[in-house]
Amino acid sequence: MKVAPKANDYRDRWAGDLRGGDAGTSVRVAGWVHRRRDHGGLIFIDVRDRSGIVQLVFHPDTSGAAFAAAERLRSEHVISAFGQVVEREEGNKNPNIATGDIEISVTEMTTLAEAETPPFPVDEDVEVDETLRLQNRAVDLRRDVMQRTLELRHAIVKTMRDVLDEGDFLEIETPILTRSTPEGARDFLVPSRLQQGSWYALPQSPQLFKQLLMIAGYERYFQIARCFRDEDLRGFRQPEFTQLDIEMAFVEEADVIAVMEDIMTKVFALVDGFAVPPAPWPHMTYADSMLRYGNDKPDTRFGLEIHDVGALLKGSDFKVFEGVLSSGGVVRAFNAGARELSRSELDGLNDVVRIHGAKAVAPIVVGPDDGWAGNLAKFFTAEQISAVNAELGAAEGDLLLFVADQEATAAAALGGLRLELAERFGLIPEGRHDVLWIVDPPMFEATGDANQPWTAIHHPFTAPTSTDFSDPGALGSRGYDLVLDGVEIGGGSIRIHDTDVQAQVFAVLGMGEEEAQRRFGFLLDALKQGAPPHGGIAMGVDRIVALLAGRDSIRDVIAFPKTASGGDPLTGAPAPVDDTQLRELAVKSTYVPPVPAAQS
Ligand code: AMO
Repeated sequence: MKVAPKANDYRDRWAGDLRGGDAGTSVRVAGWVHRRRDHGGLIFIDVRDRSGIVQLVFHPDTSGAAFAAAERLRSEHVISAFGQVVEREEGNKNPNIATGDIEISVTEMTTLAEAETPPFPVDEDVEVDETLRLQNRAVDLRRDVMQRTLELRHAIVKTMRDVLDEGDFLEIETPILTRSTPEGARDFLVPSRLQQGSWYALPQSPQLFKQLLMIAGYERYFQIARCFRDEDLRGFRQPEFTQLDIEMAFVEEADVIAVMEDIMTKVFALVDGFAVPPAPWPHMTYADSMLRYGNDKPDTRFGLEIHDVGALLKGSDFKVFEGVLSSGGVVRAFNAGARELSRSELDGLNDVVRIHGAKAVAPIVVGPDDGWAGNLAKFFTAEQISAVNAELGAAEGDLLLFVADQEATAAAALGGLRLELAERFGLIPEGRHDVLWIVDPPMFEATGDANQPWTAIHHPFTAPTSTDFSDPGALGSRGYDLVLDGVEIGGGSIRIHDTDVQAQVFAVLGMGEEEAQRRFGFLLDALKQGAPPHGGIAMGVDRIVALLAGRDSIRDVIAFPKTASGGDPLTGAPAPVDDTQLRELAVKSTYVPPVPAAQS
């Protein structure tokens, strides 16, 4: 710990700070019983506080009443102990802990609280069922790994704040009870008691408020902001998560990117051995990422890049490919390298692509003389085969995997397959970290829904690259995302600062003037009051901490997270409320509990 504790009746030193040089001094420490051992008449207690662990030793002759009290101590009891620091004999020193050269020979000890037997051991790094851990989070958070993760989280957020403070950014809070701020998820709603029948929405992000702050002249804003999104909680998602949210006035893409590279370089440096190539980081276009990696958050730490081979295979006798190509679809493939996969393993790959809506994957093994083995070969000419082999850099024995489908489906399917094979064959080099910007995304994406044909790729406040809205699908946008090891850790854009352009974007999204005014009138009005060009970005703090701490789940980097079903096993939230509460809010539940299956 950086600062010595203020001495009081409980403690005057941190347990984990004691060293050989303290031998001969008398100290008082306080904490939890980490481990207890009885040895030939002596009792050894490892006591743990936030700074670490120190060994207490109780002698039947010299520890007096403390010895009898120590006999009654169990794991996780809370104690305060006083005694002399003594150097351990040579053979008894423990090089594995920082305080291993010494122990405290106790002469006084108070038991401050007893503890029930913990639901799982705090002193061992064993696999524990996650629900049990979350139900007993106060015990779980005592574990060393959790403490170190939350310390890292603190250091990361502090670094962000420090860099921004030095850069003249102001930290400003924005409301939690507010109106809907669309970021592509459902809103969490809060009923108003004072204005019955009206509802607040929890912010999906502070997007609109930070834009208002730019219009208000604050120039450089940031916030460590809690965001709320009611969405499916797969992967690195929580319904309630934290962003480092930033906005700047009079800037272009390069200005925002430079600020973020400065912050993230310092954040990465907090973890020893987390080596990221020095900034400036590479830029990849959205289109390139979708083509070569099948998604907009490419994991570039391994190859298996996807190629479009439709043009090379057009006119073949293979009906499946021809049918897809003639209906406007694509044929794409990647070279998985020389992999021995059994028939059933190859069939199993179909399950992977089906998750993404594709029907099947066509596997082809490269044979001798630039040919293809297997029964698909006969449908293609030697020229087609050789052209595809050249495109995919294929050699004899390589496994080529093809998906023919509509473009978005084929991309997603091969992108998913690539990640699956990387995991299965351990293709990601240990210790390698890749960071890159995804730039030049389209402004809109087709939904396939005739009533509402377009949706915004980033959010509707992102500036388009032109004001020609005649073909929304062709419009680019000034968005950018930061990707670390195949995870989107941040995203932002240069914003629209012109009311007319903003209204046109709303119109493409199917929002008439009246609806736009009703939902976003406060923004449209503010844009008329002297809006500077502005832009910004938001970083996913939980994701950054998880990647830096090497944790697979963002639940492990949040003190009190929610499970995949949005519940909190600790408090039991969400929970039913009293009818009186609902009546005050003029809210009536239409929920009908499922009827239990009849007992037969
Ligand atoms: P976006 O929606 O891309 O942008 O969010 C920014 C970053 O927040 C993280 N993130 C999440 N982390 C955990 N759980 C979630 N459910 C979740 N959703 C998003 C991601 C993501 O990159 N207002 C814009 C930013 C801007 O334009 O300035 C926004 O919120 O790491």
